[in-house]
Amino acid sequence: MGRDRPGRGRGPGGRNRPGSVRIVVAPGGGRPVSTSILPARAVSPRSVSPWDQSSQGTPSRPGASPRSSIQQFPLTQEASAVGGGFVLSTGGHGKSQLRPFPPSTPRNPFPGWTPAGGQQDPTTVARGAAENPGASGDDQAPEQPTDSGSGRSPLDPSAESGSPRAHGETAPFSHVPVMVGEIVGLFSEVPSGLIVDATLGGGGHSEALLESRPDITVLGLDRDPAALAAAGSRLARFGGRFRALHLRFDRLEEALEGVRASGVLFDLGVSSHQLDRPERGFSYRAGGPLDMRMDPSSGLTAADVVNTYPEAELVRVLREYADERFAVRIARAIVGARPLVDTAELAETIVAAIPAAARRTGPHPATRSFQAIRIEVNSELEVLEPALEAAIEGLAPGGRLAVLAYHSGEDRIVKSVLREASRTSPRGRPDLPPPPGFTPRLRLIRAAGRRPGETERVDNPRSTSARLRAAERI
Ligand SMILES: C[S@@+](CC[C@H](N)C(=O)[O-])C[C@H]1O[C@@H](n2cnc3c(N)ncnc32)[C@H](O)[C@@H]1O
Repeated sequence: MGRDRPGRGRGPGGRNRPGSVRIVVAPGGGRPVSTSILPARAVSPRSVSPWDQSSQGTPSRPGASPRSSIQQFPLTQEASAVGGGFVLSTGGHGKSQLRPFPPSTPRNPFPGWTPAGGQQDPTTVARGAAENPGASGDDQAPEQPTDSGSGRSPLDPSAESGSPRAHGETAPFSHVPVMVGEIVGLFSEVPSGLIVDATLGGGGHSEALLESRPDITVLGLDRDPAALAAAGSRLARFGGRFRALHLRFDRLEEALEGVRASGVLFDLGVSSHQLDRPERGFSYRAGGPLDMRMDPSSGLTAADVVNTYPEAELVRVLREYADERFAVRIARAIVGARPLVDTAELAETIVAAIPAAARRTGPHPATRSFQAIRIEVNSELEVLEPALEAAIEGLAPGGRLAVLAYHSGEDRIVKSVLREASRTSPRGRPDLPPPPGFTPRLRLIRAAGRRPGETERVDNPRSTSARLRAAERI
């Protein structure tokens, strides 16, 4: 399980504004934190409540940050676009307070941090280039680049510049959904009902699903409030057919509350939007804070990892999540350079630790290390298996599970969980009949998975490493 411990709870139901962002926060306690993007159509508290529960986790690793409250929540302009926003704070005594959050008030989620080049509103900062190729080491696993999305390759020179937009210009939520046709095709055969988009992002897949099947509703989950806001805005036209929850996907069971889903989709990793916003700290190309949290309101930051982890732990992270052959050198350099203050300094430290000859070929030398630190910060691999198990258990018969993975470590977990759930004979004994009571829960659809076609790989280089695996609930 991940380090975040689930808490249970229900957000207060009253005084919701259609089309607004609602955030429920309980700083410093075991009470839940949740964000709901309410559909544009008026929704009664009663109709919202079954979906309205979630919580944030509590970090338990070395150097983990304390639980954050709404005061540090980066409600971006996308959030404002959904309707100005309402911040609902339960406070320490469980009392609620609803106060309007003026759309015109920009918040700096990283007080004290000023991007290179002067003061800049973090909601309007330049779009940097994207990165994060995948780890290798699995012959069936996706290869670089790892992360999905924007249509710009991390290896594309035009993406290298990270050329800043003019101050005051808002970056739109840029993410091109991967293998949309295949995803729509997979869910075209499921029973009508609820489809969970467990990684909502900008809502690209959800939009395609809602358009293709008028008889389905979509519940979108994301741990990133900026994604929820962007998707909420994009999908508002579907009214009550779409709902979103600020929830980590390994808590899917709580989101479902006993409802059996017709489909669950995971599109793993980070969005192009997250990668491209320097203030999120995912990018080695543009200076930014050492953050890398998909959910900027909670958990460990990249600064915690690079400035507090023992050297041996850093080596483990770099090896385990990125297959970094210079892990020992890089870890030693990071420890020697402490305290590191921003992504530019971290990137320089990593590059300097890698032998010159090895720097001349391949992607940016800091790519793998940044990816590994990001995976550690967000517990990306730890939460995957429980999430897939919850999805399998939450599916109705005939319902389908589809998973897009961009990283060999992720894909290994997906493959193993799906195989195990579809096993028709005892493990290691394919010659034996199933013991009494032994029934597979899944039927694999194309056991080897699928890759994007050449046209998509050319049009959207970030899709290159994608592997889609799918299965149907028996
Ligand atoms: C590749 S993007 C999804 C893009 C989306 N399919 C679209 O069409 O726009 C992955 C999204 O999943 C979210 N995410 C990653 N891990 C998560 C987790 N454990 N729980 C909830 N959301 C997660 C990220 O914040 C990100 O927004």
